[in-house]
Amino acid sequence: MLSYLMNGESDYVKVALANEIPPRSMKHVDIGGKEIVVVNIDGQFYAIDERCGHMNAPLSMGQIRVNTEKKIISCPLHHATFDIITGQKLSEPIMSGMDMSSLPKNVQDYFKKAGEILSYVKTNNMQTYQVINDNNEIKVKIPA
Ligand code: FES
Repeated sequence: MLSYLMNGESDYVKVALANEIPPRSMKHVDIGGKEIVVVNIDGQFYAIDERCGHMNAPLSMGQIRVNTEKKIISCPLHHATFDIITGQKLSEPIMSGMDMSSLPKNVQDYFKKAGEILSYVKTNNMQTYQVINDNNEIKVKIPA
């Protein structure tokens, strides 16, 4: 059950205990119908919209990558990537590259046309949220 902590002009919502989200893992949470994914990167917690800015796939089913410059989440559906801290889109979806040579011609044509149409779908940046670890309770700040 979610609990709300009033803090001036914004609310922090308890979404999990820290040990429920091990390092390099994610948890999908629903705060009043708003879907958010909470990410633990080596003990530091982050929160970003759950639904991909491309076509709504659940990012909590994607992957986390960390390099010296960025903390990255990738979408499980078409592999667009986003900066976990800023929410900025880092790379576009991958709409092709599948070997379809073994498929019937009409199926190949279908996927070719679908890929062409999907290439026009805009991928938006994601919203991120402030997170605090309050005595092992992970709380996400929801904008007023
Ligand atoms: S739905 Fe995420 S990249 Fe397409």
